[in-house]
Amino acid sequence: MELQFHTLTILILIITLLWPLVESQSLRNIPEIGPARVLDAILQNYAYRAFVTPKTGVSFDGIVPRNLTGVQISALRLRSGSLFTRGVPKYREFKLPIGIIEEPYVERLVLVYQNLGNRSKVYYPLPGYKYLAPVLGLLAYNGSDLSAENQTNLEIEASGDPISIDFGSVRPAPDGSNPLCVWVNLHGEVNFTNVVSGTRCLAFKQGHFSIVVKSKPIPPPAPSLVPPAASEALKPDKTNGIDSRVWVFVFYVAGGCVLLVLLAVLVLWIRGYKKRRKTHKMEQAAEGGEPLHMTMIGSMKAPTAMVTRTQPTLETEYVP
Ligand SMILES: *[C@@H]1O[C@H](CO)[C@@H](O)[C@H](O)[C@H]1NC(C)=O
Ligand SMILES: *[C@@H]1O[C@H](CO)[C@@H](O)[C@H](O)[C@H]1NC(C)=O
Ligand SMILES: *[C@@H]1O[C@H](CO)[C@@H](O)[C@H](O)[C@H]1NC(C)=O
Ligand SMILES: *[C@@H]1O[C@H](CO)[C@@H](O)[C@H](O)[C@H]1NC(C)=O
Ligand SMILES: *[C@@H]1O[C@H](CO)[C@@H](O)[C@H](O)[C@H]1NC(C)=O
Repeated sequence: MELQFHTLTILILIITLLWPLVESQSLRNIPEIGPARVLDAILQNYAYRAFVTPKTGVSFDGIVPRNLTGVQISALRLRSGSLFTRGVPKYREFKLPIGIIEEPYVERLVLVYQNLGNRSKVYYPLPGYKYLAPVLGLLAYNGSDLSAENQTNLEIEASGDPISIDFGSVRPAPDGSNPLCVWVNLHGEVNFTNVVSGTRCLAFKQGHFSIVVKSKPIPPPAPSLVPPAASEALKPDKTNGIDSRVWVFVFYVAGGCVLLVLLAVLVLWIRGYKKRRKTHKMEQAAEGGEPLHMTMIGSMKAPTAMVTRTQPTLETEYVP
């Protein structure tokens, strides 16, 4: 019984210590991509219904079911050869350059456009970030059969210039925060890039795009800790991400070990204390004939108070 209690306490402690690591990884991945993929399928079906004529090169706006009010969709059917040689100068916020190739090859494809509006943070939760613009989606499907439902996505890739997304109006970023373009691919993997000329993002593949800021700006590192040469070396996002995660890991493992040792010392001390108190009381009882007061179970709860921790709050928020 006592052993189980200790095991549980230590387990909770370890989980608590490692939690920030899990949290920091989830920033680069949307683990619950399922509902968003279901939404993609629903929106594909509704967007395909927008084709009053199967005319190519013209975009049609679709009508979403009532339970998705606030979401906008469009569909644009193109010959794959025309997409490659001419691109699409303007498709809602998107500008498709020449040189886009799809995989596998289809003769005609359909580009489904999504603007998730006030539902952006529902389908694309990004803990620690705030949306400054709605999530826009651009997804490619086989355009040979417009009555087909539940189409699988084609892969598309810009082989030359990138695809450009101009968000037009972006909520102003809070002072001192740095707006970032965010791209979420169909597997829920998240990639951050810099915003171009205030409102534009560049991408080479399909997926969902928006502009975000960190909701809690990180204070600049103390100059003594990061010499100029090191901060220069940390600039590329990839290096920075891996390095900081390794350091966070090392930090938490070391911290965890230290705390486990402290906990063990505390447990041993409490046991010793109780034993001493017990013998002391028995001595007293033997001498003075006082009745025994056994109130030592409660003290074992002490370590549990150490592990309570405020839960991380989700602060993603898009206000149109
Ligand atoms: C909305 O309604 C459509 C059709 O009525 C249904 O297929 C879909 O599952 C619903 N979506 C949500 C998010 O409730
Ligand atoms: C989004 O806005 C629409 C109206 O434009 C409203 O009907 C809907 O409930 C809102 N959804 C959310 C999740 O706020
Ligand atoms: C595209 O759809 C057509 C008609 O349904 C089908 O014949 C063709 O195999 C599909 N192409 C791919 C790559 O799935
Ligand atoms: C498409 O998927 C929906 C839900 O996943 C399902 O109810 C429907 O029967 C599917 N349609 C076809 C043609 O497979
Ligand atoms: C993120 O996007 C940039 C620019 O498109 C690309 O160079 C980089 O490889 C991407 N990173 C990941 C992890 O996909």
